[in-house]
Amino acid sequence: MKNAIDLLVDRLDGRMPRVAVVLGSGLGPLADEVEDAVRIPYADLPDFPISRISGHAGEVVAGTIGREPVIMLSGRVHYYEAGDARVMRRPIEVLAGLGVQSLILTNAAGSLHEDMPPGSVMAITDHINFSGFNPMIGEEDDRRFVPMGDAYDAVLLDRMRSSAARSGVKLFEGVYTWFSGPSFETPAEVRMARILGGDAVGMSTVPEVIIARFFGLRVAAASVITNYGAGMPNATISHEQTKEMAPLGGKRLAAILKTMIAGGGFEL
Ligand code: HPA
Repeated sequence: MKNAIDLLVDRLDGRMPRVAVVLGSGLGPLADEVEDAVRIPYADLPDFPISRISGHAGEVVAGTIGREPVIMLSGRVHYYEAGDARVMRRPIEVLAGLGVQSLILTNAAGSLHEDMPPGSVMAITDHINFSGFNPMIGEEDDRRFVPMGDAYDAVLLDRMRSSAARSGVKLFEGVYTWFSGPSFETPAEVRMARILGGDAVGMSTVPEVIIARFFGLRVAAASVITNYGAGMPNATISHEQTKEMAPLGGKRLAAILKTMIAGGGFEL
């Protein structure tokens, strides 16, 4: 049986994407920006974890943006689905195996700042792993001691900034705090995350960043803000709210990423 890499190489038909995007909750429409798109359901790819979260399609979308070949993972599995922080390891390993060198991660998140309202886009400059879980637990290779001092690539972050400016989209910047979920945070946890230096809270992305760095990929990441954190004024928090609000910031993030990807330059 062919493995996922061989299957994707066949379907990519000579395209060699150097950049990949992981689409978070409610951000599937970003994949509509891909031109000449080939869509491959995760179900066709051996070892790909299938997400059962509503709002996650679960397919690989490959094509081009501008002239740049790109591959997107539409739908990702979360730690809280399987109780295993390694769930995204195989998809990211497959991307690295295809020759992808830069990975752009996206998610939906709650804001910890009254002046960063729902609909905002926040570039992630750093993170706090508040879950206590780590996708490298159980890995035996010494590469498991993944340095995290420069996990969020300065060059890609700069390109995200200039792409936002060129797209006319305000780009906030901040620290993403990972809570395991799937329950949302309490007001006390939200206050704590603020005190500890967090700017947004969410249930994903941190394990993917660690896995991507393990495989030597450069990482950029951005959150679409769907709500204020629990206990803040005007906080309305539910999965429905996340799905309903994600497209608002999602459109803004799509504009940024379209410009950023079309600009090319994703080789290491
Ligand atoms: N907390 C955690 N994850 C989230 C939130 C939140 O407030 N909003 C969207 N994803």
